[in-house]
Formats: sequence, C-alpha cells, structure tokens
Amino acid sequence: MAEDDKFPTQGDAPPREDLRAAARDYLVRYGGDAFPNLFRSAKGSIVIDDTGREILDFTSGQMCATIGHNHPAIVAAVNRAGTEAFHFFSGMIPEVVAELALRVGRDWVSAPLKKSIFVSTGAESNEIALRMAKMYTGGYEVLAIGGSWHGVTGGTSAVSFASDRKGYGVSAPGVYVMPEPNMYRPYIPGMSGEASALACLELGLKMFDMASSGRPAAIIVEPIISAGGVLVPPKSYMKALREAASARAMMLIFDEAQTAFGRIGYRTAAELFGVTPDIMTVSKTLGGGLPLAAAITSQAIEEDVHAKGFTFYTSHVSDPLPARVGLAVIETIEREHLIERAKSTGAYLRAGLVNLQNRFEAIGDVRGEGMLLGVELVIDRESRLPNHRLGALTTQRCFELGLSMNIRRRPERGSVWRIAPPLTISHAEIDRGLAILEQALGESLDRLAREK
Ligand SMILES: Cc1ncc(COP(=O)(O)O)c(C=O)c1O
Repeated sequence: MAEDDKFPTQGDAPPREDLRAAARDYLVRYGGDAFPNLFRSAKGSIVIDDTGREILDFTSGQMCATIGHNHPAIVAAVNRAGTEAFHFFSGMIPEVVAELALRVGRDWVSAPLKKSIFVSTGAESNEIALRMAKMYTGGYEVLAIGGSWHGVTGGTSAVSFASDRKGYGVSAPGVYVMPEPNMYRPYIPGMSGEASALACLELGLKMFDMASSGRPAAIIVEPIISAGGVLVPPKSYMKALREAASARAMMLIFDEAQTAFGRIGYRTAAELFGVTPDIMTVSKTLGGGLPLAAAITSQAIEEDVHAKGFTFYTSHVSDPLPARVGLAVIETIEREHLIERAKSTGAYLRAGLVNLQNRFEAIGDVRGEGMLLGVELVIDRESRLPNHRLGALTTQRCFELGLSMNIRRRPERGSVWRIAPPLTISHAEIDRGLAILEQALGESLDRLAREK
C-alpha cells in the first residue's frame, strides 16, 4: 500500500444540488453578497465554480491572492511545511518565523520600523497595534477615519466605520472619528478635494482635542481607504496626519492590509506617501490567500511595551505554516518583479477603465494606485449622485458573463467597484475582463432605460 493511500483524502463529494442545499441549511450567513453557486478550485486569476465554469477574479479572492491563486510557490511552501511543521507551542519560535521577521524588517519596511509579531488575521494585527499603542502611551483614546475597515473583532470594529456598527451593543469607549478624505466628492462644497480633506482633518482634530479626556493613544488609518470606496488621500493629508499624531504623542497606525507587499506598485503605502507610521499592520497581501498577518513596530516601542508586560499570546502566533507561505509570497514578489508589474499592469488596466469612462457617462471616476483601483458609478457626472442600481445590475451581469467584481455600495459614499486582480494577471485576461465589463455595463444601462 502506498504511503498516501493509508490516509485517503475525502471521497467523491455529494451531488451539486445537495451541497448547495447543505450550504443553505447548515451555514451561518455572515453578511456581504453571497453567490448562489458554490466554488471548487482556483488557479492564477481564475476561480472555478461547482458547475466547472471558469470565472475571472478581479478581486484576488478577498484582496488576498496577490501573486495569483494557488501559485506553485505557495503550494511548494505548504508542502514543505508538511515535512517540517504546521504548528508548535507558541513559546517555541520556529526558524522560519525568525527568517520571515528578518526579511520583513530588513527589506520591506523603513526604519525605525523593524520588529514584527506574526498572527493570523488583519483584525488581530490591528488589535495588537491598538493594544501596543495603549500600553506605550498609557492612553486609550483612538482617532479613526470615516469609511475605515479594520476588522470585526471588539477593538477593531470599534474603530471601523465602513462596517455595520448597529446591533452589537456598546463598543469600546474612547473612539473618535473624523470625515475621510474624498477627492471625488469633497465634504465641503466648493472646495478642491485636497483643500476639503485638509479642512476636514483640521476640524476633526479640533473636535477630538475638545472631546479628549487627555489620554490619547493612537490615530489609525488605512493609507488607501479601501472598503470606504478606494479613496486615495493627497500626500499632504498623510503628512498632516503624521504631524497631528506626533504633536499629541499619539501612535500613528497604518493599516496596510491591502496596500503592502506590492499591490499599489510600492513596497508599502508608507513608501508611496513618504510617511512612516509608528506601527504598521499587514495581512491579506502577505499571506497570499492563507491566514497570515503581522504588526510591525520600532525597537524602541517594542522594548517599552515588553518592559510593561505586553502580551498577545494566541494559539497561532508565530505558526510555521503561514510563515513559510509568507516567505514564499515575498520571494515570489521579488523574483517575478511584481512591484514593477503592479505599476505597469495597473497602468494598463487603468487605461482600459478610463477608455470605458470615456464611453460611459455613468462612470464618474477612475482612481487608485497600481493594482488597487476604484471605479465610481454615478447617475450623471454633473450631480455625481451614486448609481447603486446600475452597480448591482452590472456586477450581477458580469458574474453571469464570467467576471467576479466587488461593488461597495453605501448611500453616503457612492457605488464603487473595487478592482484588485492578482498582480500576475495577463494583459489578455485584463482585456477579457474589460470586454465583459463593457458588455455588462451596456446591457444594464439598456435595462434601466427600458424600466423607466
Ligand atoms: C484595511 C483592512 N484592515 C483589516 C481588515 C481585516 O482583516 P481580516 O478580515 O483578515 O480580519 C480588512 C479586511 O477586509 C481590511 O480591508
């Protein structure tokens, strides 16, 4: 008997309809738009559903599969972990975790950022950042930005404003929020996007100072506000945020779940903006589809909180399997020059989207950086009113035609496609996606015109 046969993997799956029924009957629904189909496999920029149909993935899964689904380097890393170790006692630091910490701290972030802690999810990494900031400063107040998404755990949902906050009772005290910088739809009418963003920041800080109990701890921000509509702040905004944090002895936390490790054509958004946070969190784009996240800070902050007894001791802190995968992800980004590719492929994709914008009045704005792009749908360009129905119809039609798109719909914030394909996607695949998008948009507009 061959070694593998002693431990057979599961046999034939039940029929498709039974599995769809099982999903309906036995799974808790967790929000978001769920597809009626189930899904079977994924490779590169393609996902395959339970009918065997290939669908082009313009969201890299949940913005994670930056180097493509099931990249051979990731598969090899998982296999290698199978011969080494998946998991240890949390006090045993695996060699591969030390190696990953070295690579991240030395090659991917700028001084004084240096020391990492590796966990599983983005929310966890932000919980770490918040706990570190509170312990370091002795404060507890956190200033967050409108439209933000930092996770759904207790601490992170308290500082998130793109997610649903209603129905879960009292959230963490000491959280303040200021309006997000929106260059397309400035909050202050008559002002430029940048002037409005800076004015909102000034007002937001004034309100915070007024309300503060004198125990500030952190400002937390996604350098590109993704779930809130792919909003790219002006550089002046990020610099002002840095100054505001320093002036108040608050930690500046950059949540780079979506922006680090090449997606935007830079190592990190901190590099793009020329602003260094006190704590950076990374997740989706480091794990490449497997659960891996990190909080990265300076030696001085790490030493301070360690001396004060900092703990974040979990079952899966420093696990070797995801670390092996993270190492494979960053080696692949380097080997395949994916940062440069994010720039060039991003420019190609953006040009295609701008081309569509030139033909469809309903595309009000195309924005973003590298391969993290936003396309905003409007009723007309004059009013800039969000076109939610068109967004929903077109997204649905795209899926029927073989393209998976993610639309963010918020009454106050517009109707925005978040387009973030794997950095490894080919021009031919982008062309195919754009052709589907064009057809779906045209058909949906026709349908809306008929309904009038
Ligand atoms: C910017 C950002 N931060 C944090 C998170 C939370 O990460 P996770 O879902 O892995 O907990 C997300 C998830 O979408 C995110 O987009």
